[in-house]
Amino acid sequence: MPGDKSISHRALILAALAVGPSRLDGLADGDDVRRTALALEALGVPISGSLAEGLVVDGLGVGGLQEPAQPLDFGNSGTGARLLMGCLATHPFTSHLCGDRSLSGRPMGRVMRPLEEMGASFLARAGDRLPLALIGTAEPLPIAYRLPVPSAQVKSAVLLAALNAPGESSVIESAPSRDHSERLLTARGAEISIEEAGGERIINLQGECELAAGDLEVPGDPSAAAFGLVAGLGPDSQITVDNLCLNPLRTGLFTCLGEMGARLTIEESGTAGGEPVGSVSVAGGGLRGIEVPPERAPAMIDEFPILACAAALAEGTTTMRGLEELRVKESDRLSAIAAGLQAAGVAVEELPDGLIIEGRGRVPGGTTIEVRHDHRIAMAFLVLGLAAEEAIAVDDGGPIATSFPGFNAAMKAVGAKIEGAEGET
Ligand code: S3P
Repeated sequence: MPGDKSISHRALILAALAVGPSRLDGLADGDDVRRTALALEALGVPISGSLAEGLVVDGLGVGGLQEPAQPLDFGNSGTGARLLMGCLATHPFTSHLCGDRSLSGRPMGRVMRPLEEMGASFLARAGDRLPLALIGTAEPLPIAYRLPVPSAQVKSAVLLAALNAPGESSVIESAPSRDHSERLLTARGAEISIEEAGGERIINLQGECELAAGDLEVPGDPSAAAFGLVAGLGPDSQITVDNLCLNPLRTGLFTCLGEMGARLTIEESGTAGGEPVGSVSVAGGGLRGIEVPPERAPAMIDEFPILACAAALAEGTTTMRGLEELRVKESDRLSAIAAGLQAAGVAVEELPDGLIIEGRGRVPGGTTIEVRHDHRIAMAFLVLGLAAEEAIAVDDGGPIATSFPGFNAAMKAVGAKIEGAEGET
């Protein structure tokens, strides 16, 4: 599997803010992470090597980024854009940020508000959208910030801004979101502490610290593996994926598949970059519908497209709620999933905050799905096509390369028949 995308963005950024060289191996080599590396280079960070073969990042230290001469283009990547907005907010220069059509439609206000409290200012398009100009502050203020949405990107943006602010900053989250930033900051020697109180998680970070350089091996991405693993639930199949990040705040899909009756084995084998790592195996067998508890959503926020496809192949009703956030991902995923399932002959009801899917154990297929610039919609429906009675096509394979450039080859290696290349329509 490609390296974990979330960890790859953070590994690059924190290596850039450490003092001296860090070697990073196993990075995700899709377009999203490439854009973060290019943005860091534009901010003066010396980077050598390649994403596929390993990079050496010569960190400039906290506060050491330099004014970019060109706009920073984040392509499709919300994580790259929002995390770097955090860093840039507490650097005393102006940066211009832009992205593709999908990213330019996504809300940036959720990161702008706390960063404004810390002293940054913004000139953004209507609705707080990209392209925007970010005016970093020379006199950053620490912050205590309660996240209004359960978002690891917002949490991480505030923590990255706080690195270059004096004193202690805190982020309070009522629903724990992926904690890769906290783990990597700890590994790099930041003064960070985490408390759990009254059902909330409070992350305290001491600013103006020094981060230690060091080598890192990024584990495989469970969100990429999800597609092959669901494909492995087909009759007579058996698939194992090893060297996967098994952070419990990322493995909600595996819990759901277990509840649906999947034969699934998870084996932890060690740690990498402060994260638990191991293998996941699945074997074919029937699935049944379930009700997904809303509180599990942050631990599987990117996996609802593929879960919905598994639910379509199960027997019985699957209900998923509390998913308003899916409307502001790379596409409005509730709408994209519902439209795709309907086109494939599956009974589905779209709720304001979720989906009710009537699984009948079989999917007619024989349709072309509108991908809407969303890599996970494309991959989920191609996997559904493997089990459908007639082939499923996607209208745009291009977005797959943002997160999983080797998707077609990996799927073909386990027996899938896929026509066309990832970059093709
Ligand atoms: C990510 C957090 C999630 C997720 C995204 C990656 C991250 O977004 O959907 O793909 O790396 O922090 P939110 O923070 O908006 O929930």
